[in-house]
Amino acid sequence: MSMSNRERLLKWLQDAYAMEQEAETMMKSMAGRLKHYPELEARIEAHIAETQQQAEEVKGCIERLDGSTPKAKSAAASVMASVQALGNAMMSDEVVKGVGICYGFEHMEAVSYRALVIAAEAAGEPEVGEVCRRIQQQEQAMAEWLLDHHAAIVGEFLAREPAPDATAKR
Ligand SMILES: [Fe+2]
Repeated sequence: MSMSNRERLLKWLQDAYAMEQEAETMMKSMAGRLKHYPELEARIEAHIAETQQQAEEVKGCIERLDGSTPKAKSAAASVMASVQALGNAMMSDEVVKGVGICYGFEHMEAVSYRALVIAAEAAGEPEVGEVCRRIQQQEQAMAEWLLDHHAAIVGEFLAREPAPDATAKR
């Protein structure tokens, strides 16, 4: 099926909106379970707030193109995020796996917005491009934070794990 650049831009914005819903579900579940990693928890909480803001901005872009936003959270995305959260909770190194999943997810988000910036340019929608560039930078910043704190989080997990009463995993 052939699509105009504008239709493609709209489709990718709708995908991004669903992606933000999934991100929110995943991060809320992770932040809600963390007990011994307050710095990580605070950074995730901050990114949840950013994510909600991003979803609103993406919705604004969709409306600008006269498209419709999914009213409810995409069922598939929501199920996927929940299953992932559950699977993750069963792991003995939950916090380390969670950081890895978040790190991957932020990169996927960043590269999706990078594609959106290019698509917005091709469709002659510079304002949409500006929004997507700003969001891309926020996703990148979250990924960088996780990498910067990775050694400390893994180190703390390893320090806690041998102690009999410490819950290292979260
Ligand atoms: Fe994100």
